[in-house]
Amino acid sequence: MIFTSKKEYREEVLTRRSDTSNEIREQWNEIIFNKLISSDYYKKSSVIFTFVSFKDEVDTHRFIEYALKDGKKICVPKVPSKKQGMEVYFINSFEDLKKGYFDILEPLEGCIKASAEEIDFILMPGVAFDKQGNRIGYGAGFYDRFLSELKRQVPKIALAYDFQLYEKVPTDEFDVKIDGVITEKDFITF
Ligand SMILES: Nc1ncnc2c1ncn2[C@@H]1O[C@H](COP(=O)(O)OP(=O)(O)OP(=O)(O)O)[C@@H](O)[C@H]1O
Ligand SMILES: [Mg+2]
Repeated sequence: MIFTSKKEYREEVLTRRSDTSNEIREQWNEIIFNKLISSDYYKKSSVIFTFVSFKDEVDTHRFIEYALKDGKKICVPKVPSKKQGMEVYFINSFEDLKKGYFDILEPLEGCIKASAEEIDFILMPGVAFDKQGNRIGYGAGFYDRFLSELKRQVPKIALAYDFQLYEKVPTDEFDVKIDGVITEKDFITF
């Protein structure tokens, strides 16, 4: 299916994702988790910025637990307000998280702020992707704004289900490209 607006992709994918059974998603999550932890991106990085998965997104909770035990430093986003946009804080366990913006789990007050310079790998959420590295998010622009401020090249890999991957998705000039997508079927880098 080819749509013309980001909105249409968001509607199509989000419906399809919420229509997918938990049982199927758990199988896919397991495959994606295994590809992620066996990747060089993961193995070579010590400070990883990951989204904290919410509802029917590809699960990152298991990854966060695993990576912390494996001695990686993990930082996650927090949105103090729409105006301030996204900030990133280190967590040491799930005890450091509570529900924040849109009910998404966010780091508690008291967590240490991470600076963009120390991050060496970014796991991206998103709605729809294509094979040229284009990405459609939820429409807030938080990731685009955050990524546009990074001063050096940091690998940005999205976690998604295969049906979130399209031939071509529409983009705007402020959209920041990603470097790859891991799905249950593939690990594509651009
Ligand atoms: N670098 C930026 N500086 C200021 N505003 C930005 C920037 N990037 C995006 N925006 C704003 O964010 C809004 C939403 O952009 P878009 O629809 O691409 O969001 P998205 O990519 O789905 O969201 P996200 O980046 O949070 O995943 C746009 O209206 C745009 O004006
Ligand atoms: Mg965008």
